[in-house]
Amino acid sequence: KKIIHREQVDSTQIIANQLAREGAEHGTIVIADEQTAGKGRMSRPWHSAKGKGIWMSIVLRPNMMPQHAPQLTLLTATVLAECIDHYMGVRPSIKWPNDIFIHGKKTAGILTEMQAEQDRIQYVVLGIGINVNQDEHDIPPELRSIATSVKQETNQEWDLRESIQHILSGFEVSYEHYMANGFAHIKQTWEKYGYRIGETVTVETLQRTWQTVIVGIAEDGALLIKEEDGNVDKLYSAEIQW
Ligand code: BTN
Repeated sequence: KKIIHREQVDSTQIIANQLAREGAEHGTIVIADEQTAGKGRMSRPWHSAKGKGIWMSIVLRPNMMPQHAPQLTLLTATVLAECIDHYMGVRPSIKWPNDIFIHGKKTAGILTEMQAEQDRIQYVVLGIGINVNQDEHDIPPELRSIATSVKQETNQEWDLRESIQHILSGFEVSYEHYMANGFAHIKQTWEKYGYRIGETVTVETLQRTWQTVIVGIAEDGALLIKEEDGNVDKLYSAEIQW
């Protein structure tokens, strides 16, 4: 597979999207040491200092319908969680929809972008950002109470190259398994790491604010919640007071 490594880019996501538009093959990966304009979800910036973390984007050309794309994001979240748990030795949780938390603070995030045509996916670009070796003073002061790095939570520095290899081989195994056997295994792993599963949280939508229990995730990426009357509902977008 083609791996493109750059010292400095604006955003691996921008480069990978451009390569995909130009026809880059399935499995093309763009990795950078540093991003000057890293992108987070909901147009937020993503701090990506040189050599401190894993900043990469994967181009995929899955033969599937656009509505299944959220499964790829959930798949990626389980790959990151398993890598952090098994290789780095600290148990993370996955906060819906796809943030990776360690000890209650955000450590990694996933940004999925897609191009589809006539009910078929042309390509998906999966952006993965993991805070690996930042010390506390490397994290912007206003983020210190909500963001952390693997190093801060494991008290050890991690080899980025080796960490990337673990993630990519984990991704490949998980992706092949998903394509051959479907989503069930990912759902199971996601729920194993899911943040506050079985607990009561306060949920706020435009219409109302109420208390509900988180049960897991649905095949379409929705959060499954159990209402007081015992019914299980799907939540697609809401503010959750974690
Ligand atoms: C989020 O949690 O908001 C998602 C963060 C995604 C960051 C990664 S870093 C590699 C790739 N390139 C980007 O500009 N963003 C993603």
